[in-house]
Amino acid sequence: MTPVEQIKERLSIIDVVSAYIKIEKAGVNFKARCPFHNERTASFFVSPGRNTYHCFGCNRGGDIFSFVEEIEGVSFPEALKILGNKAGVNIDFKGPRNNNEIYYKILEEAVKFYAENLKNNDQAMNYLASRGLNPKTIEEFKLGFAPNDWRILLTQLRSKKINDESIEKAGLAIKSGKNIRDKYYDRFRSRIMFPIFDGQGRAIGFSGRIFPDDPKTSKYVNSPETVLYNKSKILYGYDKAKREILAKNFAILVEGQMDLVLAHQVGSINTVAVSGTALTEDHINLIKRFTDTLIFAFDSDEAGVNASLRSFKIALSKGMDIKVLSMPQGLDPADYILKDPDGWKRAIGEAKHIVDFYLDLVKSKGLSEREFQKEISKKVLPLVATIENKIDQAYFVKKIANITFLDENSIREELAKNIAHGSPDALVGIPTSPNERRGPEASKHKIIDKVLGFFVWQEAKSKQDIDLNSFQKRFKDICGEEIKERVSKIDLTKRQDLSFEAEIYWAQSNDLKQAIDELLDNFEFEFLEDKLNKLMILLKQIESLINTDKMKKEEESTLLLKECQQIIKRINEIKNKRHK
Ligand code: CTP
Ligand code: MN
Repeated sequence: MTPVEQIKERLSIIDVVSAYIKIEKAGVNFKARCPFHNERTASFFVSPGRNTYHCFGCNRGGDIFSFVEEIEGVSFPEALKILGNKAGVNIDFKGPRNNNEIYYKILEEAVKFYAENLKNNDQAMNYLASRGLNPKTIEEFKLGFAPNDWRILLTQLRSKKINDESIEKAGLAIKSGKNIRDKYYDRFRSRIMFPIFDGQGRAIGFSGRIFPDDPKTSKYVNSPETVLYNKSKILYGYDKAKREILAKNFAILVEGQMDLVLAHQVGSINTVAVSGTALTEDHINLIKRFTDTLIFAFDSDEAGVNASLRSFKIALSKGMDIKVLSMPQGLDPADYILKDPDGWKRAIGEAKHIVDFYLDLVKSKGLSEREFQKEISKKVLPLVATIENKIDQAYFVKKIANITFLDENSIREELAKNIAHGSPDALVGIPTSPNERRGPEASKHKIIDKVLGFFVWQEAKSKQDIDLNSFQKRFKDICGEEIKERVSKIDLTKRQDLSFEAEIYWAQSNDLKQAIDELLDNFEFEFLEDKLNKLMILLKQIESLINTDKMKKEEESTLLLKECQQIIKRINEIKNKRHK
């Protein structure tokens, strides 16, 4: 029996799903409110008979593995590991997958070592107490202390037979360029250590705050990018926050380690933090798995909010509802929580939608009517333009029309100027992470992953199961791209995941050639639909441009229309083939 079969035999879909959400009996099945999309009535069904789940609201469905992939936001091999643990089935990953284990181990040792050092350091413990942290929180977050010493962690890890290069690669030691006997030294010295965990709670890096305070050195030092740690894809506190984000249906975003730890301590467990970096699309995707509402708890004065404008836009364009938590002047969440924990909680409830927040801000300036309108156009419309949901957008247009006394149409025109034109070239993007599997993009990304995965898997084999050249050619015919080049841009871990997934997936297929043909048909289909959508938008844009040259406009739209018709023809061909 394969591990997958073993796990399936030992764990029922009910065991797995009920560990995450509340399910109720409904006849022979169970039902629940879908954890993958917002809904009031339960359309998520779990079938113990078939060992599957299906949501009639958002059409997601599958088995225990896909459920864990979705809800934990992990790739298939990781889901396999999680469920393997739960079922007591040993998952042996063949080959290079084990390479990272050494780094996890090093990080784990370092976490233990630093935590031990903190316990024995009264000065640091007192400092943390003065910041409001209690011992339970310190333990829960595995906070630590890196003594003021050049090689104390190195010595400790060397005693465990770990070599210097690995310690450096784990981000914990630095190799000096100087010609000295011992080139390696500890990265973190004299710092309070905040371990950074991945989604499953494994330590992958650190953020270290100087202690005692020393203006001569930087206040925070963070782990560099390593094989485990990619700061633009990791949210501090996420491992502890995700369940609560799902339960409360909103997340709170703070900027610092201290802010996060204190927020959790006072019960705002749905809080996550960026760690010494700007908010990225990947961060938003992590949050979006569990909720569409995000409250920013940064500086809420005008300068502070302006500084976060880029982050707001990223989140709004991803369809998030963004709110701003208003904090007393000059305080960050950590200070605020220490001073007035109830005030903090109240402020969460009173957080305003970002557009309302800006509207109020502009209103409070006491400008003349004309200046007021200009300021709104400059500050508020660019934000409204990035809102992905058109109904929300219409709501704010109306609101702005009401308070500026401008008519809705002219506001819409201004808005249109702000809306960036999507480029028709960037048709199918490489999914930025294996976790980007929600919403309408989900099926498309699954297909691309499958295509790439199949290729990687076959390429690595000494003897291929199908003719890879013709596979490559068909891929190029579809999207004009070289699959080899495409694959070379995927990082190693992702590549291994894809290949592993392919191996398991395709092992079940008895006619590989036909299965691949179907896969490529699906790929082409998705690709063409996507292209068609983009062309249609372009077409509409051209037709709505009132001020351009009429001849040129007609010429352009005729060309576009022709292209659309060709695509539709090909789409129909594929559809017919499918139905045969
Ligand atoms: N940060 C960083 N590098 C710096 C300064 C800050 O990476 N040189 C990051 C850290 O993650 C830090 C966050 O930005 O937690 C916020 O920085 P700051 O406001 O300066 O620190 P506080 O969180 O207020 O630190 P503390 O409360 O411990 O004084
Ligand atoms: Mn602070």
